[in-house]
Amino acid sequence: MATLELRNVHKTYGAGLPDTLKDIQLAIKDGEFLILVGPSGCGKSTLMNCIAGLESISGGAILIDDEDVSGMSPKDRDIAMVFQSYALYPTMNVRDNIAFGLKIRKMSQTAIDEEVARVAKLLQIEHLLGRKPGQLSGGQQQRVAMGRALARRPKIYLFDEPLSNLDAKLRVEMRTEIKLMHQRLKTTTVYVTHDQIEAMTLGDKVAVMKDGIIQQFGTPQQIYNDPANLFVASFIGSPPMNFIPVRLMKQDGRVLALLDSGQARCELPLGVAADELEGREIILGVRPEQISLGAAEGNGMPAIRAEVQVTEPTGPDLLVFVTLNQTKVCCRLAPDVACRVGDSLNLQFDPARVLLFDAGSGERLDLAASGTAIKDNVTRFKGR
Ligand SMILES: Nc1ncnc2c1ncn2[C@@H]1O[C@H](COP(=O)(O)OP(=O)(O)OP(=O)(O)O)[C@@H](O)[C@H]1O
Ligand SMILES: [Mg+2]
Repeated sequence: MATLELRNVHKTYGAGLPDTLKDIQLAIKDGEFLILVGPSGCGKSTLMNCIAGLESISGGAILIDDEDVSGMSPKDRDIAMVFQSYALYPTMNVRDNIAFGLKIRKMSQTAIDEEVARVAKLLQIEHLLGRKPGQLSGGQQQRVAMGRALARRPKIYLFDEPLSNLDAKLRVEMRTEIKLMHQRLKTTTVYVTHDQIEAMTLGDKVAVMKDGIIQQFGTPQQIYNDPANLFVASFIGSPPMNFIPVRLMKQDGRVLALLDSGQARCELPLGVAADELEGREIILGVRPEQISLGAAEGNGMPAIRAEVQVTEPTGPDLLVFVTLNQTKVCCRLAPDVACRVGDSLNLQFDPARVLLFDAGSGERLDLAASGTAIKDNVTRFKGR
């Protein structure tokens, strides 16, 4: 059991090269599950290797249980890691691969056998225990690599995309297994994924990274409902948030976003100083589920009229695509809504949920503070 804190961590792979990690700051409590998400090349694996001690850091400090482990060798950090590449011992069979870390720790043979049997059952690889890694599929190798980490009881687990090679069904099963396992063991965990469903469902906390910088660190709900900027808003959510370029205007003390060449209007919550925003390029962000069918005239506002271009029934939902302000917009409606291509719909946006972003900087604009950019995003969202 352990806390993990990263203080101003920097990493560069060599003089003259740009920093791969820039001023990484985050802290997780004992037993928490942290998800690290971000696009390919943003530095997720680098950060994991730094925490594990396989890479040195160029600045800052890594603390486990308030002890600075930055200079400590990997074996003294008591961390078990599952790599993106499986790094199995090719000459050992699956049983010995899983047992390796336990033998080194001089566990009794009976205890080792029990532990290997337990993780093999959990990962559904009991029938593969006698095989060498070369005789396994990619997904099977990945499960063995998981097994090797799970057989140990370290202070911290680090998982680098452990499910990425599994087929869709097994992936969903394993996701639940990992969550159950964490609820049982309560071991502090850092888990890298590209999969935003995993990010939303598994983590107590999520850190969204881009270009070696943490864009936002918070609970999954904070990341989803209160994204720090356009990047975070676009990265989390499926189907993704819609981003519609709009003009704002003030009318009778209300602030309106003009949609569809000013024909339809979406009322925004009060508090936006439209004068300051007028003329600025604003992006209105609205998630597909925050758009609903409405009456022709709701709240004294004309509904947003739009023609259905494509429908996609997914089973639980009906995704309906329309165009507003020359932008494709996805609406997530109930599956039984009667709606065909060419129909004209009256749409309503949930005014309390729409977000505004500056088109140039991608900054989130604060509706409660005269439409100014949310200052110091990272600080605002740090450690919440
Ligand atoms: N040993 C190295 N020497 C030099 N540059 C490296 C080294 N390892 C990684 N990099 C660079 O650091 C950056 C971050 O790489 P990293 O592997 O951490 O990304 P990632 O977020 O894990 O990506 P992916 O999702 O594709 O696994 C990349 O630009 C990569 O080219
Ligand atoms: Mg990686």
